[in-house]
Amino acid sequence: MGDPTRDLEQWIPRLIAVWRRHRKAGKPQRGGGRNAPRARFEEEELPEGNLTKDELREIGAGVKQLSMGLTRNRELAGAHYMDDPKLLGAYLLFYWPVSYAQARSTLSELPNRPRAVLDLGSGPGPLAFAALDAGATSVVAADRSKPALELARALATEAGEGMATREWSPEKPLPEGKFDLITMGHVVNELYNGAIEPRAELLERVLERVNPHGSLVVIEPALKDTSRALLKVRNVLVDKGYAVRAPCLFRGPCPALQKDSDWCHAERSWRMPRLIEDIAHAASLHKESLKMSYLVLAPRGEAWPEPPTGAVFRIVSEPLEGKGRTRFMGCGPEGRIGLAMQEKHENEKNRLFFKVTRGDVIRITDTEDRGDGRALTDQSSLEILANAGKPVVRT
Ligand SMILES: C[S@@+](CC[C@H](N)C(=O)[O-])C[C@H]1O[C@@H](n2cnc3c(N)ncnc32)[C@H](O)[C@@H]1O
Repeated sequence: MGDPTRDLEQWIPRLIAVWRRHRKAGKPQRGGGRNAPRARFEEEELPEGNLTKDELREIGAGVKQLSMGLTRNRELAGAHYMDDPKLLGAYLLFYWPVSYAQARSTLSELPNRPRAVLDLGSGPGPLAFAALDAGATSVVAADRSKPALELARALATEAGEGMATREWSPEKPLPEGKFDLITMGHVVNELYNGAIEPRAELLERVLERVNPHGSLVVIEPALKDTSRALLKVRNVLVDKGYAVRAPCLFRGPCPALQKDSDWCHAERSWRMPRLIEDIAHAASLHKESLKMSYLVLAPRGEAWPEPPTGAVFRIVSEPLEGKGRTRFMGCGPEGRIGLAMQEKHENEKNRLFFKVTRGDVIRITDTEDRGDGRALTDQSSLEILANAGKPVVRT
């Protein structure tokens, strides 16, 4: 398995090449068809790994429209935006790399390396290709958008990979077969007008196609509403006896849903490709860290992973800095509570407290109960059992 950052860098020229070819094919040609000598000359003149100013402007406008429609007013959620060449192009060059990186980070948490993979709501296949790069041997990408699947196939050809595609939408039967991994990236939030029960029913049907010890990975935008909706779907499935492999260590109803103002999401640092930086700038967007909400679910009948012994928590907030102390929210087998430490208590055994980040899994000892949480003192120790995006060492 390659390094995700390097793998993603290799995808950038492929994404650009495929986009340029499809854009040209969709435009009326001046002075001859797409193989006319002049057209080929122009293609050779274009920079391989980045966009020209005009291209950036075009993609930036599409990304602005997608960002507004998918994350602000949500008018595009559930709409056929992948069938609009301008928006599909913007998705391919901006959101594809983001989804790919999110997927690689999530797949690195799986207990087993999946071989047979199905990517539902694949669009042009960022999760499908992430699975291939993470060691999958056969991948099926399924979506209702023909143009998006066509791009997935073009990318596979460009990369010299094999990829099967299927037209699919939730009212149709799932593609044939059983899989070690099924992924659903940023699609569940676009289904059933926000209704929770039919989403949970769909995930149950999907889980029937997951092989024993395999996983269903659902990735969603880190927005408050889409994250809370995912947690509600999680609760329905957990209530029916399904186990969550990650990120939850708490086996009851998600405690982040107790207050209307709370939600839970993940955040990963990443080396943003230059292309994304340039497009974000052109679209006046900020995209520094990778934020997402995700769930890794086990098929029916599998038990929850045994939690490590002791007082174990996943960090589920950023550091909340106060006067001389730092506080995080932690969520573990005993629930979601505040964890705090004063700087004056810092020593060899506990100083990692000031270094932990959202997603890390920690074990702490010798804490004191404080209000609705725990305080680490100079007697306390802290151990990191897993960095964000890595499997938890169960000891
Ligand atoms: C935001 S894109 C996600 C693409 C890709 N999975 C990713 O993570 O970047 C959502 C995808 O869901 C697909 N989609 C939305 N509603 C759908 C439906 N009812 N049936 C099938 N696909 C659907 C869209 O065509 C689109 O490709």
